[in-house]
Amino acid sequence: MEHVSVIGLGLMGTALAEALLREHLIVTVWNRTASRCTRLETQDARVASTAARAVAASEVLIVCLANYAVTEEVLGAQDARDALKGKTLIQLSSGTPKEARDMAARVREYGTQYLDGAILAYPSHIGSAKAQILISGSVEAFHQQRELLQILGTPVFVGQSPGAASALDCATLTNSIMASIALIHGAALCESEGVEIEQLVSMVNARLPVRAELNREIAEKILTQRYDKPQSSVGTWASVAKHFVHIAQENHLAHDVPQFVSQFLERAVAKGVGNQEIASLINIIRTNEIDKTNV
Ligand SMILES: NC(=O)c1ccc[n+]([C@@H]2O[C@H](COP(=O)([O-])OP(=O)(O)OC[C@H]3O[C@@H](n4cnc5c(N)ncnc54)[C@H](OP(=O)(O)O)[C@@H]3O)[C@@H](O)[C@H]2O)c1
Repeated sequence: MEHVSVIGLGLMGTALAEALLREHLIVTVWNRTASRCTRLETQDARVASTAARAVAASEVLIVCLANYAVTEEVLGAQDARDALKGKTLIQLSSGTPKEARDMAARVREYGTQYLDGAILAYPSHIGSAKAQILISGSVEAFHQQRELLQILGTPVFVGQSPGAASALDCATLTNSIMASIALIHGAALCESEGVEIEQLVSMVNARLPVRAELNREIAEKILTQRYDKPQSSVGTWASVAKHFVHIAQENHLAHDVPQFVSQFLERAVAKGVGNQEIASLINIIRTNEIDKTNV
């Protein structure tokens, strides 16, 4: 039976440890607040008295703490660092790509294999295929730990750069939150004009296949750097967004959402991309590249 240690028994860490215990793995746990170990002890988890002892107990270590600074604090002590030698560390705490890169470099010095993960799920999804877990780092370590990760959810290897999982997590969630905010702004506008919110949702949902096509087109244009001959240029979208600000104001609604879009597009027009494809906005976001490209 495989030995795994789980460090951090918050809502997510507890769900991870419970999923492993359900599969009858030998699980050693540690948490700063020891009382959070009690529930797992009744499910046959072994409770370590220190983080270093939890590290020493297993070949594979899953960390799910509040953030990377806490992880540094917990694993940075000399006894924990010594225990990490030759082990595989799977970091599932949320952090930035840079934090992931820095941690990968640091633990490499201890002779530890490193995988960085981002969980795109709630604790209640852990242990089912619904829990997507983006993983980056050593491809060899990923193959070695794939079966273990499959107990927790659906692992998706996203790249060898340790920061890849965090970057993709942030990119996906940015897409999600922006779509949600746009829908909510639209709902307020519809409400103010007596249009049923269900009608808006039906319209938006019916357009999802078109959205999927547009997403692919944008990606292709970025990859080929072809921003000429737009069907609808950045300048056209800038005018539309200005119009949306006006509509919100006329209907006495907060106009932060269209205003943000309008200002961003106006800035792009001022940078000279008004007659280009919307995908060319990537050059505005790559701030360091704006002067190097011929946008
Ligand atoms: N919950 C979710 O839906 C979800 C989804 C995806 C990703 N995540 C990520 O998973 C990680 C854990 O989330 P969670 O929901 O389990 O959070 P949580 O319930 O707040 O648990 C936080 C964990 O960090 C520990 N901790 C905090 N400060 C510490 C310190 N100074 N020293 C030692 N331990 C410390 C806590 O220990 P104590 O018990 O002693 O306070 C606890 O084990 C986060 O990075 C989160 O972003 C969570």
